[in-house]
Amino acid sequence: MPLKNDADRWGWISLGIHWLTVAMVLGLVAVGLLMQELPNSSTKSELYSLHKTFGLTVLGLTVLRLLWRLFAGAPAPVAGTPRWQAAIASATHGVLYLILLAMPLSGWLFHSASGFPPRNLSWFGLFKLPSLSDRDPALRDFALAAHEWLFIALAVIVSVHALAALKHHYVDRDRTLARMLPLAKPAPKPQDTPGA
Ligand code: HEM
Ligand code: HEM
Repeated sequence: MPLKNDADRWGWISLGIHWLTVAMVLGLVAVGLLMQELPNSSTKSELYSLHKTFGLTVLGLTVLRLLWRLFAGAPAPVAGTPRWQAAIASATHGVLYLILLAMPLSGWLFHSASGFPPRNLSWFGLFKLPSLSDRDPALRDFALAAHEWLFIALAVIVSVHALAALKHHYVDRDRTLARMLPLAKPAPKPQDTPGA
C-alpha cells in the first residue's frame, strides 16, 4: 500500500490517522462519560487530564490530516457510485471534520473559561498551550453545552457513516470500505475483469 493516497485507494497516512482517530474518539467518549460520575479523587483528576491530553491529540491529528489531504488528495468515489450518494458522503465527511475540530476546541475553551488550575493545559507534559479566555462563567456554560451537543451530533453522524460503509461492503459489495482497511488489494484493472 502506498504512503500517499492515489485515485483508487487511501494510502497509509490517511488510513492510519483515520483508525487512530476512531480508537481515540471511542476512548474519549467512554472516559468523558465515566469521569464525570466519579467521586472527587486523584483517579478522577488523572482521567480529566488524560481526556484533555488525548482530546488535544485528536485536534492536532485532524489538522495534520486535513493538511495531508490537501497535499495527497483523496481517492475518487468507487466506480458506479451515484452522484447524489457521493455528494452526501462528501458533506458527511465535511461535517465529521468540523466536529473533530470543534469538539476539542470547545473542551479547551471550557477548561480555559472555568478558570481551574493549571490555567495552561500541557500536552503530555511536553509543552504548554495558551489559555483561550479569562475565567468567564457564561462562556464556560456555552462551551460545555457545545461540547455536549457536539457529542450527540458526532454519535448520530458516525453511526450513519459507519452503517453506510458497511452497506457498501455487504450490500453493494464494492471497495469503499476495503480501501480504507490495511492490506486492501488495488482495484482490478479493466483487462483483469472477466468479460471486460
Ligand atoms: C475529539 C475530542 C473529544 C471528545 C470526543 C470528547 C468527548 C467528551 C464526552 C463524550 C464528554 C461527556 C459528555 C459531555 O459532557 O459532553 C466529555 C466531557 C468533558 N470533556 Fe471532552 N472530548 C473531547 C475533547 C476534549 C478536550 C480537548 C478537552 C479539554 C481540553 C475536553 C474536556 C472535557 C471536560 C472538562 C469534560 C467534563 C465536563 C464536565 O465535567 O461537566 N474534552 N468529553
Ligand atoms: C469516530 C468515528 C469515525 C470518524 C470520526 C470518521 C471520520 C471519517 C472522515 C472524516 C472521513 C473522510 C476522509 C476524507 O475524505 O478525507 C472518513 C472516511 C471513511 N470512513 Fe470513517 N470515521 C469514523 C468511523 C468509521 C467506521 C466505524 C467505519 C467503518 C465501519 C468508517 C469507514 C470509513 C470509510 C470506508 C471511509 C472512506 C470513504 C470513501 O472512500 O469515500 N469510519 N471517516
